[in-house]
Amino acid sequence: MTEVPFPAAQVHFGVFFQGVNHHTVWSHPSSGSQIDFETFRQVATTAERGLFDAFFLGEGLRLREQDGQLLDTDIAGRPDAIAQLAALAGITDRIGLVATQNTTYNEPADLARRLAGLDVLSDGRAGWNVVTTDNAWTGENFRRGGFLDHAHRYDRAAEFLGIAREIWDSWSDNAIAESRQSSSWLTPGAVRTIERETEHFRVAIRPTLPRSAQGHPVIFQAGASPAGRDFAASSAEVIFSPFGTHFDAAREFADDIRARLVTAGRPADDIRILPGTQIVLADRESEVEEKKRWLLEHQITGATALSLAGQVWGRDLSHLDPEGPLPVEDPETTAISGTRGAQRDGHDRVAVVKQWRELAETKRLTLRQVVIETTARFGFAGTPGQVADELTRWVRHGASDGFNITPYLVPTGLDDIVDLLIPELQERGSYRTEYTGTTLREHLGLHAPLTRR
Ligand SMILES: Cc1cc2nc3c(=O)[nH]c(=O)nc-3n(C[C@H](O)[C@H](O)[C@H](O)COP(=O)(O)O)c2cc1C
Repeated sequence: MTEVPFPAAQVHFGVFFQGVNHHTVWSHPSSGSQIDFETFRQVATTAERGLFDAFFLGEGLRLREQDGQLLDTDIAGRPDAIAQLAALAGITDRIGLVATQNTTYNEPADLARRLAGLDVLSDGRAGWNVVTTDNAWTGENFRRGGFLDHAHRYDRAAEFLGIAREIWDSWSDNAIAESRQSSSWLTPGAVRTIERETEHFRVAIRPTLPRSAQGHPVIFQAGASPAGRDFAASSAEVIFSPFGTHFDAAREFADDIRARLVTAGRPADDIRILPGTQIVLADRESEVEEKKRWLLEHQITGATALSLAGQVWGRDLSHLDPEGPLPVEDPETTAISGTRGAQRDGHDRVAVVKQWRELAETKRLTLRQVVIETTARFGFAGTPGQVADELTRWVRHGASDGFNITPYLVPTGLDDIVDLLIPELQERGSYRTEYTGTTLREHLGLHAPLTRR
């Protein structure tokens, strides 16, 4: 029998309400609003019924575009994450509330304060997914032509997070006077002014809030480049990765992250690794393939296929027939400008197009079929029992600590996961049967915040 490295490991679940993406099928009759609070309420309360660790929101500060054209074939808009989570804090009790917020276009005094507000008001359930925002157009919202190159983004992120942590540590534990007879509400000297001069910031901040029930919001990180991984290793408590489909790739990524943690002077288990994934459940094994096919057909419509192929080619391909062959012309290879691109640079494009052409030829596929073939991102598909076995194998063999699940339908997409999959996991002893703590930090089994050990 092969040895199980983490025999007691438990599966942690977050729900990733993506907002923009082509994975959520918005066009199906059973699909609800992507914007109304009722949708968020249903998803969050279903996840809480399923004892999930967290409800997780992505962030986009501007409608997505490619070469100045809106990418509008899939879901495009969404409310501000912190506003949305603050509303959910009022109607949920336990589930963690994680906001993706970028460090490139925010300011520490403002963002750290808003996150602390969510953390205090939710009694210690807030998380912050620290991103640097890789697209090139968002900067235009803030300063004309405003783009910050990749390396500088992570420098700024590290400085940003350092200041945020000082803000969250600035009130001593007895900062609020205990007696109503005191002459001042604050204990004299109990709140520090944060003065910092770094490459990106020059600030003197008097923070407005005490620490929350969990000390600090839990720090998530999403970014897979070497700079992103190092940032996670030095600073993050949860890493949200794109490695949620293939066991070997996930295991390699997780091993790499754990090694980087040790290099950064932290214990290897000081982080939770939660790849994003999709789960497709069917009652019978014979129905699994059919359900996957149904889902792919709905996720990659003709228009979506043309839009995704257009990003690869760097050209507008909307005039083509998605059921026809790949475009005959070569991809655009000029270097991407600071404000135009969506996804890829010139080098990447040539390689991807070559790969797509080979695939189309060998398997005799249409454009849409190639896109389906190359962008399908199921993590797990099967009967509830089969998927429960596989998820348990992942966490017990160190490929992840759980998953951030994108439901393919909202608001109902978590129903079968909660009703059918979770009982199977519980039967295998790999999923909690009740919340044992009240804060997000406790659900994740994390230590005290990094600056408070
Ligand atoms: C799983 C995952 C989710 C992400 N979600 C967002 C998001 O919601 N908003 C955003 O601006 N960037 C998001 N990003 C992008 C990251 O902030 C980062 O800019 C990008 O991954 C480039 O960094 P890297 O080169 O280190 O990968 C996400 C990245 C990953 C891997």
